[in-house]
Amino acid sequence: MTPSSPDTAPTRRPLVSGNWKMHHDHIEALHTVRDLGLRLKPEDIAQVDVTLHPPFTDLRTVQTLLEGESIPVALGAQHCNDHDRGAYTGEVSPQMLARLGVRYVLVGHSERRQHFAMSDDLVAATLRAVLRHEMTPVLCVGETEEERAAGLTEERLSSQLDAALRGLDPSQVAGMVVAYEPIWAIGTGRAATSVDAEDACLFVRETLRALAGPEAAQSVRVQYGGSVNPENAADLMAEPDVDGLLVGGASLDAATFLEIVRASRPAGPRRRG
Ligand code: 13P
Repeated sequence: MTPSSPDTAPTRRPLVSGNWKMHHDHIEALHTVRDLGLRLKPEDIAQVDVTLHPPFTDLRTVQTLLEGESIPVALGAQHCNDHDRGAYTGEVSPQMLARLGVRYVLVGHSERRQHFAMSDDLVAATLRAVLRHEMTPVLCVGETEEERAAGLTEERLSSQLDAALRGLDPSQVAGMVVAYEPIWAIGTGRAATSVDAEDACLFVRETLRALAGPEAAQSVRVQYGGSVNPENAADLMAEPDVDGLLVGGASLDAATFLEIVRASRPAGPRRRG
């Protein structure tokens, strides 16, 4: 483990999120969430927040199930448009998500940036749209393999953070989540080492401090994402600036996802207290 900076005492509540990407239709979603609800024990979520980010077509089903069966998991979405309404065929607005009880929205996931040409400007506008509707943005940042090899990781992270957050009020930044997801680790089975994840998450926090001040930087939860599984979750979570995990493939199965939630509990011997 790398040493914590003095003002990063681990007062932040761990946040473990499942990003289903384009997996699970609404029937599969129903079975998965019901399975998770049956397995979750009060002690699993006593010290950890859990969110699920299913595809748009599943949101209503998942919301009904979470509320109807009092499953203590917050509803998340994977993306939204930056406008509240209008002639944007095929898009879903932040207002629609808010009305559905969505609490967290991924913004600028690398797959949106890569496959759908989501620019830094659009990331910034979307983030503000999510905030406008009082949902929590989960701003995704991360470098490519080439950028890492060229020693450009920090430059990439700071430029993504700056483009998305510059001009926001520190109180708005304070309530956000940032997900550090190195692109080379997503879906590859090659997770970052816990030391590399800590270095990047600490750098994210230092950049937040420069952009929004020490209080905001101290309260933002910084997640790591990229090939997280039940075996590596505890080591990643043991790092002082890794406040949570954004889980793709391993979140599709309720039992596997729950193992990751359990490995993220701060009570574990590895977590700093
Ligand atoms: P994997 O966990 O499948 O690598 O995906 C990570 C991710 O992109 C989560 O948003």
